[in-house]
Amino acid sequence: MIPTLRLLTYLVLLFCAYGCLEKTDSTNISTSVIPHPVVLETENKTSAITQLNYCEAINDLDRYQGWISSWSYPINCLDDADENVSFINDTSLSYEYELRIQNNDLEIIFASEEGLRGALSTLNQLLELNEGKLPIAKIKDKHRFNYRGMHLDVSRHMFTTEEVKKYIDFLAFYKFNFFHWHLTDDQGWRIEIKKYPLLQEKGAYRDETIIGHNYGANEEYDGKRYGGYYTQEELKEIVAYAHQRGIEVIPEIDVPGHTSAVLSAYPELGCQDKAYKTATRWGVFYDVLCPYEKTFEFLDGVFEELKEIFPSQYVHIGGDECPKDHWNNSSFCKNLMQELNLKNGNELQSHFIKRVSNILASKGKVIIGWDEILEGGLAEGATVMSWRGEAGGIEAAREGHEVIMTPTSHCYFDYYQSKDENEPLAIGGFLPIEKVYNWEVIPKALTQDQQKYILGGQANLWTEYIPDFSKLEYMALARMATLSEVLWSNKEKDFQEFATRLYKHVLFWEQENVNIANHLLDASSVVSVSADDGVIAQVHSPLKNTTINYNSPSDTIFKVLKEGRLELKEKGKYSFIANLGERQGREFQLEFNPHLANYSSIRLNDPPADKYKANGAQSIINGISGSEDSYGGSEWLGFEGKNMDAEISFNSKVDINSISMRFYNAPGQWIYSPSKIEIFSIDDSGAEKLVLETDDFKSIGNTDEIRFEQNLNLSKLRIIVHNFGEIPSGKPGAGHRSWLFVDEIIIN
Ligand code: ACM
Repeated sequence: MIPTLRLLTYLVLLFCAYGCLEKTDSTNISTSVIPHPVVLETENKTSAITQLNYCEAINDLDRYQGWISSWSYPINCLDDADENVSFINDTSLSYEYELRIQNNDLEIIFASEEGLRGALSTLNQLLELNEGKLPIAKIKDKHRFNYRGMHLDVSRHMFTTEEVKKYIDFLAFYKFNFFHWHLTDDQGWRIEIKKYPLLQEKGAYRDETIIGHNYGANEEYDGKRYGGYYTQEELKEIVAYAHQRGIEVIPEIDVPGHTSAVLSAYPELGCQDKAYKTATRWGVFYDVLCPYEKTFEFLDGVFEELKEIFPSQYVHIGGDECPKDHWNNSSFCKNLMQELNLKNGNELQSHFIKRVSNILASKGKVIIGWDEILEGGLAEGATVMSWRGEAGGIEAAREGHEVIMTPTSHCYFDYYQSKDENEPLAIGGFLPIEKVYNWEVIPKALTQDQQKYILGGQANLWTEYIPDFSKLEYMALARMATLSEVLWSNKEKDFQEFATRLYKHVLFWEQENVNIANHLLDASSVVSVSADDGVIAQVHSPLKNTTINYNSPSDTIFKVLKEGRLELKEKGKYSFIANLGERQGREFQLEFNPHLANYSSIRLNDPPADKYKANGAQSIINGISGSEDSYGGSEWLGFEGKNMDAEISFNSKVDINSISMRFYNAPGQWIYSPSKIEIFSIDDSGAEKLVLETDDFKSIGNTDEIRFEQNLNLSKLRIIVHNFGEIPSGKPGAGHRSWLFVDEIIIN
């Protein structure tokens, strides 16, 4: 830390001793339960209970015994006397459970076995947060959504059974009731199937693993064989472990795409006569299962063993990201399509999924699939996981199918959660806890009647960039706690209040040596632009009672930022740090490059995608450039399959010498530089004149840049950045319209 900053922090600390520390109650007893119960009444007094004992056994408790005995502060079963805990099963209760914590005793009242689980989870949290003590409190609670899920991909990276159990413990702590276990994918098959030993011998291993993000160009590999699988005994042990904690495990066998690992073991199930390999890089692969009879026989064999391991009524069959190229080139598939009167690849995929659904139905199971299973017609009784936004969920609910919402925008916990430049490598995107917290699970487009098909929500933890459990904790835990609030609680939204509660949990997990991400103290900004006032940064941190200090390019001494508001004028770096008590957030910087458009207004004739709209259109004229390594966040605007069509207006005519702009270029993520750019001047009558045009770009890493040098005098201009268009065959995302990402339009 630089000396001036150290001094200032010290002064702030001294000062804060008299005012800015988080207010705690007189006894310091925490009631920061997450998710927040429906009713929580407390006198902020500590109960005298130091140990929890009961003697009267109840049947419902049997299931949870293993869990309770593993707590740091367990509830003990005593044969004789001194009981202070009573369990009361009351099926007429209007809540799911109630806790009545008195000075000397505790009543746990519950309506069902599930209600008891909720009660135990809340109790465990209170005990953990307060080192075995309890607040005197009355709690009444019930959940909002029936489906509260967390997913884990163990194909891209695998975790030990002990680690998976730890993950399940996190789920139980936050009242999740479904664990969606993604057991198979291109990069490794992880479930022992005795009938097909080559799945274990070959499909479970890959030769090496790609390093970093550079697929498609400059690929680098680690040269190390990677893999493994869970034996059926291990899987059963984990299912039982989850069951004790009120969690149902849903296995996923991803078909017909994401099956390179299957094909490496059983190449005869592919459409092409070749040797297949378990994938060593990430992405989507052309190697998919061919809809032969023998393929369905193989799947029948897999599901026969699977059903003995996983008692859940659900089996997730994937169905996502299945390129149809091999099917379209296969004479077997062409004949099959003719025979079954199927018009296209989507209908063949639908046929495939229906066959799988029937196999599973014969074993008493129902399917869940990613939203691609809608394409070509949905199988009867299928539940849809809506991941590519809300559209799949809306369509399925309108068709009367049950839906689990898991849109990338709010539920992909493999995305970045901070814009800090030292943030560990993630897959991309940007999903901070505030965004998770503000997620509206039910799509607004649904009628009241259709809304009942939304079972709940789930976050997904894809592990391409999560190689170990410590990173898993970092990526998952803080956002998981946040999602639990969204899926369980009906409490009116108040992010600062939630952040204060979450901060208590962060401190708890840190004490437990769990690598939870803490971004609650990090300052961030919303930068606005106007033709009259120029560029204003509004800086805040999620926690209230923090003080924000800043310095400007010409003055390196940190000062207190009043009302969190700063006008940016000087070229160079501005730094901000939030402080709370003795803790300090990460330093946050804005690199400001002033230019003419900082005093203008911008209007888009067609909006960007909802999930990539940054802080609105002004984000691309605010003097701050988006990262070269990440297209999420507050600077890049992302357009899905569309042009960017912008009008920039000044208060009066300005002399312009140059205009430049940048584009993100990441074919692996279906993001391509534009095909063409046109710039028009607009006169007072509204008439447009083409003044500049180019399709010539300079590539700089992940970004392309163009720069026009020309003298212009105008007060209004229109810029059309043409989308690359349909992605050609052989490139990632072939057949789809590409994404276009645009950042700073610099006008000088
Ligand atoms: C998915 O993220 N491919 C479901």
